Amino acid sequence: VQLLRFDRAAPSKVQRNGFRCGEPSLDRWLATQARQSMESRDAVTYLLLDADVMAEDDRPRIVGYYCLSSGEVQRADAPAALADRAPDPIPAARMGRFAIDERYQGRGWAAELLREALLAAVAAGKVIGARVLLVDAISADARAFYERYGFVRSPIHPMQVLYDLRVVEASAGLDR
Ligand SMILES: CC(C)(COP(=O)(O)OP(=O)(O)OC[C@H]1O[C@@H](n2cnc3c(N)ncnc32)[C@H](O)[C@@H]1OP(=O)(O)O)[C@@H](O)C(=O)NCCC(=O)NCCS
Repeated sequence: VQLLRFDRAAPSKVQRNGFRCGEPSLDRWLATQARQSMESRDAVTYLLLDADVMAEDDRPRIVGYYCLSSGEVQRADAPAALADRAPDPIPAARMGRFAIDERYQGRGWAAELLREALLAAVAAGKVIGARVLLVDAISADARAFYERYGFVRSPIHPMQVLYDLRVVEASAGLDR
């Protein structure tokens, strides 16, 4: 399995159209929007590819993906530990989408991909400044997944979860 930026992987239409995660909007975004968002610099998508299993056109199947962009969190929307001595708004990285193909779910790939996303967000934050990773969870189920890995809920927006990137850097990974 390989993790590549969308533009480096240059996935074919067949690869992109074959992705199924259980949330049609996330499948559709990868198939129709990811490339454009990449070219316009609105979001950078990263793909996890299975080099051992080929899509119908003989190119590696997409196991999962996430995308990152820049963002911000209002101080009033953040837990006290994150808001402490932070500017308002707090500079953030934002993970807009995150999904694993159904054929690969339940095997630990999401945990692996989330770790990569957090490290990428830390690296981005070192370049432009971002102390938090912000995720708008697509469902209560998705939110439970993030909370399991130490994301904390915004006290104001119930579907928004936050992760302190300074903590990731300190532990060089996830809490568990
Ligand atoms: C959420 C999703 C990424 C999880 O993928 P997955 O491959 O099943 O997850 P993993 O196998 O890596 O699971 C890692 C751990 O998280 C746990 N987990 C998985 N989904 C969970 C959930 N919804 N709530 C709480 N824990 C969850 C697993 O039990 C596992 O724990 P374990 O190591 O103790 O067994 C996947 O189901 C998915 O893509 N769903 C559709 C899209 C989606 O909802 N994305 C989130 C967008 S905001």
